[in-house]
Formats: sequence, C-alpha cells, structure tokens
Amino acid sequence: MKEIFNDYIQNLETYIMFRIKEEVSRITPELIAKNRAPISLSMGAPTQMPPKYALDALKEAIDKKGMHTYSSPKGEKSFREACALRMKNRFGVTLDPDKEIFSLIGSKEGIANFIRLLINPSTKKEEKDIIMLPDPGYASYKEMIKVSGGLGYSVPLTPENNFMPDMEKVFEKLIKDGYNPKKVKALLINYPNNPLGATATREYFEHIVKFCKKHNILLVSDAAYADLYFKPELKPMSILEIEGAKDIAVEFHSLSKPYAMTGWRAGWICGNAEAVQIFGKLKSTLDSGMFKAIQIACAKILNSKEGDEYIIEANKEYKRKQQIFVEGLKELGWGEFNVPDSTFYLWIPIPPRYKTSVEFTHDLMHKSGVVAAPGSAFGEYGEGFCRISIVCSEDQLREAIERMKTDGFYFNL
Ligand SMILES: Cc1ncc(COP(=O)(O)O)c(C=O)c1O
Repeated sequence: MKEIFNDYIQNLETYIMFRIKEEVSRITPELIAKNRAPISLSMGAPTQMPPKYALDALKEAIDKKGMHTYSSPKGEKSFREACALRMKNRFGVTLDPDKEIFSLIGSKEGIANFIRLLINPSTKKEEKDIIMLPDPGYASYKEMIKVSGGLGYSVPLTPENNFMPDMEKVFEKLIKDGYNPKKVKALLINYPNNPLGATATREYFEHIVKFCKKHNILLVSDAAYADLYFKPELKPMSILEIEGAKDIAVEFHSLSKPYAMTGWRAGWICGNAEAVQIFGKLKSTLDSGMFKAIQIACAKILNSKEGDEYIIEANKEYKRKQQIFVEGLKELGWGEFNVPDSTFYLWIPIPPRYKTSVEFTHDLMHKSGVVAAPGSAFGEYGEGFCRISIVCSEDQLREAIERMKTDGFYFNL
C-alpha cells in the first residue's frame, strides 16, 4: 500500500501534541497506580469555560431557522463585519469586510491552507519553494510546509537577538547556505510567540515590513496570542498597524486562546485583498465554512464588554499561575530563565544532566505524571528547553511542583 499515498504525508509523524496525548493515555493506569495521575502542562488549550455571554448567544442561535445549513466559506457578513470592528477597536486597523477578511475553521486550518496556496510542490530540493519560519516556533508550521511540498527555512529566535533577528542577515545566511533567494515566497512570523512568549516592538515590525517589501516576499503574521498579555503597556500589536503593511501582509486571528474556544474552531484571515481573495478561491473548493450558530456567538463576543472583561480576567489568572510555577521552579533550583509578558507558556532550560529535551520530558512524565512538551518539537533551536503550558488549575500547578520535589526533579542534583 505504501506507494499509493502521497510521499510527504505517509512520512509525516502524527502531530507532537497528539502523540503526547496518546502516550499519556497509554500510561495513565500505571501513573494512577503510583499516585501520579497525569497533570497536563503540554497542550496550549485553555481549560476554563468560554465566556457565558458567548455560550448564551450560541444556545440562542442554535434554535434559529437556517442555522444548520451550509454557510459560506467566506463567513457570514455579520461575522466578517464583527471581525472588522474588532480589528478597528483592538488595533486601530481599518479593513473591508468584503474583500479583506475571510472566515477560518480555526487558524490552524487557515495557515495550513494558506501555505498550500503559496507553494508549487516539488520533490527536488533545489526547486522547492521556501517559507521562512520562526524557530523555535509552533510545531505545525514546518510540517505544513513539508506536506505542501515546500521547504521551511529557520529564522532563529534567540536571547542574543532578543527574539527579533535582523532579517537582512538571515536572508544573507540563507543565500550563503546555498538556497535560491528567488524561491523564498513568504516570511511567517508569530508574535507573541509560541513557545517563547516573546513579543515584538513596533520598530521590529517596521523592519519586517520593509524587509518583505524590498525582497518581494509575502508577510504572513500569526496573531493567535495577540490578546494574551500581562502588561497593558506591552499590549501586542497587529502587523497591519504598520503603514503600508497591507501591501504585502496577511494576518491570522483566532478565538481559540483568548476566549477558551479551542473546540469551536473559529478565526479569520485579514489583510492584503489580493491574497485574501485568492485564498478564498482555494477555500471554496476545500470546505463549506464555519457553523453559522458559532459565527453568531463569535460575532457577539468579539466586540462586547463581556468579551473584553473575560480577556482581562483570564490574563490576570494566567499571570497568577505563571508566578506560582516560576516560584516553584526557583525552589527546584532553576536559575535564570525568561519570564514572558505574554502567552500562557514558559520556556525553560532542561536540567544539565539530560542530553535531550525528549529524555527529560519522558522521564518527568513517566516518573511524576507531569506532562511537558520537549523543546526539540519546536525546531532545531528548541533543543535544550521544554515548554510548560500553565492552563491547568493552580492546585494542579502546585501539585506538579510538589511531585517534582518528591521525585528529585531538581535542576542540579
Ligand atoms: C502559534 C499558533 N498558531 C495557531 C494555532 C492554532 O490555533 P487555532 O487553530 O485553534 O485557531 C496555535 C495553536 O496552538 C498556535 O499555537
């Protein structure tokens, strides 16, 4: 059977988070037996309920006539108008809901299909289209590019470059590494970044826009975490706030993280009209849009007082949880590491006695039932670290720290 399937897909590994989930299910009885029931610090999925206002709106909408028929892949007009209003209210960005916004069945779907839109698939390395992507970065990007027949080129995000590398230097290195600069289709950015929690300054966004314009590269911004931040003065920006960005940029937004709606599958792409329109053509052949009742509920929450208050409260809670876990790590001997002002992630070095992040996270899961994500899953610059997601309850976070103390997971032994 093997040769029947697409080469890229048959060689694809199951997505890391689902692999971890399967492994956790497999060993759960064993962990329970030794009083170490799994505590998930691996998935980037909020565990609280979505805003009541949105739940009520969904319940009300669900009984309405016409809700259960196909919607338009583009998104209902009222949903796109609500997205446009959100972009205006939150970022001061003006968008045409008819030409510059398109609905998504979650931003993961959108990003994967957008990548597909850019790449002319090729099996020959020298002919492959290139997408530059953040490293460490969201684990799916690289695989999305690979299964589309393209090549991902790592843009290193390191403390040395303050997670904002000089793109001209990266581009020079790409050429030095033997890649054809003409094959570079897009630069994918993600601020606030998963897994680092790093954000970008306005100056850096200006630099990125200038770079993409100069080299005729499409700028693709993933803003999934734009509403998860702890300091009002460091409120993450939209790339579309930069003058002229719309000439070369699109941005992906998601309701998953700010409103704890990961299962609702709701988001939108916005920005450059030509890119959004051609993306729409592809989408119209691939799917039939979001569930209409969900669009109604999402449209309501996006520009509501209730939605904004929910985000403020959720961020306060994440900050408290971050403090609990950082405190615990300090007691376990973790020294200096970056404590981010955004996202619900912590990116921490693995103890020096472990050779790889997989070795450490495997040991932590099997001995203590504490499930973290290995840094190597996020790119070649991710080795030596692991990602902790602080979305579980405060009690579970404290319990994870207690277990680590009891089971000897000190940074230095
Ligand atoms: C950086 C980033 N982008 C996009 C997504 C996908 O989010 P969704 O498909 O739920 O909108 C995730 C999910 O973890 C993410 O971390």
